[in-house]
Amino acid sequence: MTADAIGVPMSPTMDRTDLALELGGVTAAYGSIDVLHGVDLAVPRGTVVALLGPNGGGKSTTLRVVAGQLPTTGGDLFIAGRRVNGAAPDELARRGVCVIPEGRGIFPNLTVRENLWMATHAGVARKAVEEVAYERFPRIGERRRQLAGTLSGGEQQMLAMARALATDPSLLLLDELSMGLAPIVVEQLYEIVAQVATTGVAVLIVEQFARAVLGIADWAGIMLHGRVTAFGTPAEIETDLSTAYLGA
Ligand SMILES: Nc1ncnc2c1ncn2[C@@H]1O[C@H](COP(=O)(O)OP(=O)(O)OP(=O)(O)O)[C@@H](O)[C@H]1O
Ligand SMILES: [Mg+2]
Repeated sequence: MTADAIGVPMSPTMDRTDLALELGGVTAAYGSIDVLHGVDLAVPRGTVVALLGPNGGGKSTTLRVVAGQLPTTGGDLFIAGRRVNGAAPDELARRGVCVIPEGRGIFPNLTVRENLWMATHAGVARKAVEEVAYERFPRIGERRRQLAGTLSGGEQQMLAMARALATDPSLLLLDELSMGLAPIVVEQLYEIVAQVATTGVAVLIVEQFARAVLGIADWAGIMLHGRVTAFGTPAEIETDLSTAYLGA
């Protein structure tokens, strides 16, 4: 299964290594319960791909599989053209895969800067990590000594993104970035996501309802019952999207 088979136009000069991520017929299960039933998805470098769909469709599970937190039971998982089925999370992290989970994965009882220091295992100095983070997110800089748990939701998401970006990812996975945030804050965060993609990072962003993500997405997919049932430009999937929610 190649990306063109699921609707990502591939130019003649493009080969599979232009894709930061490719899933072909990926299946996965929690114990004996099959959840992913053959997921086809591709994320080209330097683009934002949005994966939308109602509750329980398998979006978060897909991210878990890509991050190596849940093994595939079948199909092919490629990172930058290399088949990585069965690779451990730390190996995938070294290959540039970085996930911001639902709930943001920050440590509430540590300060902002202590949270950022968590990214230094990637071999970057603490000072450098902080400098880059505060330049991109001045609000975080002002609050560097504050406990992360006392930040607003938007600030917590900024902190999670700052920490993720400090590891210099080539593939950034975002689960429900917009959850619990005001539309204006979401819009600001999406702007940053779009800007990050222009630097060459591939972004896969999962959202349940946030149609606003289509404003920054190059490609969008709909996930239903463990499969990507539609894939195309945001305009192309608009109709399928309405059907998906009405049917759900
Ligand atoms: N740890 C788990 N153990 C067993 N089943 C699970 C587990 N996590 C998720 N599931 C099941 O897998 C299916 C897909 O869940 P998943 O979290 O991937 O969906 P989702 O598309 O992210 O949904 P939502 O939009 O609600 O976040 C659901 O039926 C869910 O109940
Ligand atoms: Mg989810």
